[in-house]
Amino acid sequence: MTVRPLHPAVALAALTLALAGATAGVAAHAQTAAPPSRPPAAVKGGTAPAARPAAAAPGLTVDRVARGRYLVNTSGCIDCHTPFKPGPQGPEPDMSRHLSGHPEALKMPPVPVLPEGPWLVVSAATNTAHAGPWGVSFTANLTPDPETGLGNWTVDDFKQTIRTGRHMGRGRPVLPPMPILVYKNFDDADLEAIFAYLRTLPPVRNRVPEPWAPKN
Ligand code: HEC
Repeated sequence: MTVRPLHPAVALAALTLALAGATAGVAAHAQTAAPPSRPPAAVKGGTAPAARPAAAAPGLTVDRVARGRYLVNTSGCIDCHTPFKPGPQGPEPDMSRHLSGHPEALKMPPVPVLPEGPWLVVSAATNTAHAGPWGVSFTANLTPDPETGLGNWTVDDFKQTIRTGRHMGRGRPVLPPMPILVYKNFDDADLEAIFAYLRTLPPVRNRVPEPWAPKN
């Protein structure tokens, strides 16, 4: 599909939203997803160090996959890329579809028309489809399924996508609310760690729909 260039004001709104989405995503995530692995506070013997993976630095041996899992678990990816389902405490990520993006079986009806005013964005109950000035975007399948996920991506495709905000660094722009402006600040080692972790996920076959162009 073609995405038409956005009017500057609309682009700005979309931008602001992407940033807000990142913050909200991280905040909401704190309540819904499993925390990074840490030993229980009262470990028998009492002296075990916290198991927080160290930041990757040259010369340091780190478990890259563990670092990637930690970053994915703390950077909001799960909020948007794992569909929510209703749970006893409210919406919670459906871990049977972990990071597999907008469920292909969930066909979204037309976007509700908002009244004049400051409301700008509508989100699906799964938090995997978002309508705003950019049209409707559906969160991507980040699992290593070769046909519907990132199975055929190289680590450079991934790094270029996040760094340039374009699909594989050369395709169409990545739409809000994917917080590209936040994530482009990850350093190479962190992006490589995230990609290494995504590689270890069980592949989920789920073809995410193409975005819908904005109406006006
Ligand atoms: C606030 C919601 C949100 C958060 C948080 C989020 N994403 Fe996304 N992501 C999206 C949306 C929406 C798309 C689809 C955008 C499109 O179709 O242009 C997307 C697309 C992607 C893509 C595919 C881009 C492409 O060109 O095919 C990758 C890779 C990705 N996200 C990785 C991540 C990672 C890794 C994290 C966490 C560090 C993350 N996302 C967090 C919403 C989000």
